Amino acid sequence: MLKPVQIKDKVLEVPIIQGGMGIGVSLSGLASAVLQEGGMGVISAAMPGFDEPDFETDPLAANVRVLKKEIQKARTIKRGLLGVNVMVASRNYGTYVKAAIEAGADCILSGAGLPLELPKYCDGKVLMAPIVSSGKACRLLCRAWDKHYQTLPDFMVIEGQKAGGHLGFKKKELEENTFPSLEQILKDVLTELVYFEEKYKRKIPVFVAGGIFTHEDIQSFIQLGASGVQMATRFIATKECDAHENFKKMILKAKKEDIVYVKSPAGFPGRAIRNEFVQTVEAQPNRSISHCLGCILSCTPASTPYCISRALINAVKGDTQNGLFFCGTSAARINEIIDVHTLMESLKGRME
Ligand SMILES: Cc1cc2nc3c(=O)[nH]c(=O)nc-3n(C[C@H](O)[C@H](O)[C@H](O)COP(=O)(O)O)c2cc1C
Repeated sequence: MLKPVQIKDKVLEVPIIQGGMGIGVSLSGLASAVLQEGGMGVISAAMPGFDEPDFETDPLAANVRVLKKEIQKARTIKRGLLGVNVMVASRNYGTYVKAAIEAGADCILSGAGLPLELPKYCDGKVLMAPIVSSGKACRLLCRAWDKHYQTLPDFMVIEGQKAGGHLGFKKKELEENTFPSLEQILKDVLTELVYFEEKYKRKIPVFVAGGIFTHEDIQSFIQLGASGVQMATRFIATKECDAHENFKKMILKAKKEDIVYVKSPAGFPGRAIRNEFVQTVEAQPNRSISHCLGCILSCTPASTPYCISRALINAVKGDTQNGLFFCGTSAARINEIIDVHTLMESLKGRME
């Protein structure tokens, strides 16, 4: 049995966070199903307005409107904790964080960069969780929050190399297999946190992510000092996941050799399924884009090889040729679509 986790003044009944998945892969459908099971359901704030009529002309307005609507829908479930994932690399970061708080999120989870300014937008109203990939990033973040805001993260997520989407490792580390294991990063992060936990006299629960697949995986990380896990790829292959059926089928079909590193305009390496789109980008790195949706701070529209928002929207809508299908290494182990209740029961260790 997995134990509940106390996070500041709240209790997470089941220590499983469903990782935020943009664009549109984790909205209220998936998040609500996870909340219903007592876990943390997370809505992605990455371009949730992609299907709105005004998205092309005023993406910010469409995104904020839909983000709030999705949070309010999930909020009707009175179990679990509701998180919103806002990427640091997003343009209008503060606007999305504030909108999520106004609409009633319990927590903001934030990675793809160090969320150094997150406390400024939260004002103590929600739980705050940075997503990091090293002990060093954890230390820099805690130092900055301690110095500038006299606060600490309420919980942390650490993401290892097996995760899906953008990865917090250098291309060279990935190519040369010199990245640390998730076990090692957990150890480093727990060591870094000791000083801050003593200073503030409170515990910071740590959740690990990247390649977690079974109840036994969860138990083994809990034995190493984690409070729980964050999982994403397994949740794509559920009936309740908000992505198109074709996305789910791509996950079922993917074999180990189909899952590759990709270059992302966000400036981080990513992991995705090697389909026609990925092959075209590899073959023609100098392609240009025609219309910019203004999604990512670090993207330079004049020289970007592709528009990441457009590619991820194609994926969530089920365009298997032109979509970018992010997934973790564990996609190769998934061969059926199940419901969230069945998945959560097996992760809790009640069935297999
Ligand atoms: C399709 C997909 C989209 C993702 N989008 C985001 C995102 O928008 N923001 C983020 O912080 N992480 C994102 N991630 C990472 C996940 O939240 C999660 O931490 C990671 O995939 C965990 O590893 P796992 O998939 O092996 O369980 C994404 C992952 C996938 C598979």
